[in-house]
Amino acid sequence: MNWQVWLGTAAVGAIAMGCSGGSSSPEGGSATNNAAPADKIYTIGMSQCNRGEPWRVQMDADIKAAAGEHLNLKVIFKDAQNDTLKQRSQIEEFISQKVDAIIVSPKESQPLTEPIAKAYEAGIPVIVLDRAVMGDKFTCFIGADNVKIGRAAGEWLKTTLGGKGTVVELKGLQTSQPGIDRNKGFREGIAGSEINVAFEADMKWLEPEARKEMESALTRLPKIDAVYAHNDPGAHGAYLAAKAAGRDKEMLFVGIDALPHEGVMYVKNGLLASTFQYPTGGKEAIEVVLKVLKGETVEKTITLGSRVFTKDNVDAGGEALP
Ligand code: FRU
Repeated sequence: MNWQVWLGTAAVGAIAMGCSGGSSSPEGGSATNNAAPADKIYTIGMSQCNRGEPWRVQMDADIKAAAGEHLNLKVIFKDAQNDTLKQRSQIEEFISQKVDAIIVSPKESQPLTEPIAKAYEAGIPVIVLDRAVMGDKFTCFIGADNVKIGRAAGEWLKTTLGGKGTVVELKGLQTSQPGIDRNKGFREGIAGSEINVAFEADMKWLEPEARKEMESALTRLPKIDAVYAHNDPGAHGAYLAAKAAGRDKEMLFVGIDALPHEGVMYVKNGLLASTFQYPTGGKEAIEVVLKVLKGETVEKTITLGSRVFTKDNVDAGGEALP
């Protein structure tokens, strides 16, 4: 079974419930909480596009931690293993289970739009995280502004390279909105400069794909000044390819995500020149679920901020994007 059930352990600002105490339940299997209140326990179905990438593991951990503050929330975590059809059926399953809310971080925009709309029309609040779907048949979308992040990365490279140079762009999956937006923003950021994107490829957010594409870029281009990868695993894959070719010192590597134990650490180690934070939104998703369950109205879109980390500011915790 590829899903986990987890039940919150502490009653903090719960949905008006007189709960007392609580004991944690292990991950995996169907958990019950002996000290659970007699009142309703709310079940949240969480469909994660994959748990193979550190950023998504972090998102689930953020959701778990935030839900853990509330004894009356139970979260069912499902891993779609980067399979769109599997993710569609997970949403269908949540609908037939009649969960109280769904949180979903979709793999792809278009194919997930329909099942999410179906859940929403069935009266289940749906919080969409990170990768947007089409239309407006969901309760709330939470994510950072990927055009802005891409633009900031472009402007940062423009300044750092002195307005000119040869760049490789390793793009996130182009059927997912962040990949499209991070490309668009970047091109805006370098507009008017003499920066030439001499090689671009869709590495589908995956480090091994990025490494493979970078190997092609290295054979084709005699000189590369920088690699802009749409996520830190992609930047790391590119770095590994360049290092294997003995060319890593020739160029700068820029990524996105900035997890403390991934991108930020790479900046500290000097492997990445910069990374731009992409917050998971896990904590905010639980905040929104609680509001909706209390009958409060919520914003349709919640846009999260971002920070840039470079060798000069990383020890001070990076700098917020304006
Ligand atoms: C993880 C990931 C992150 C990226 C996000 C974009 O699957 O690739 O690295 O920032 O998805 O949706």
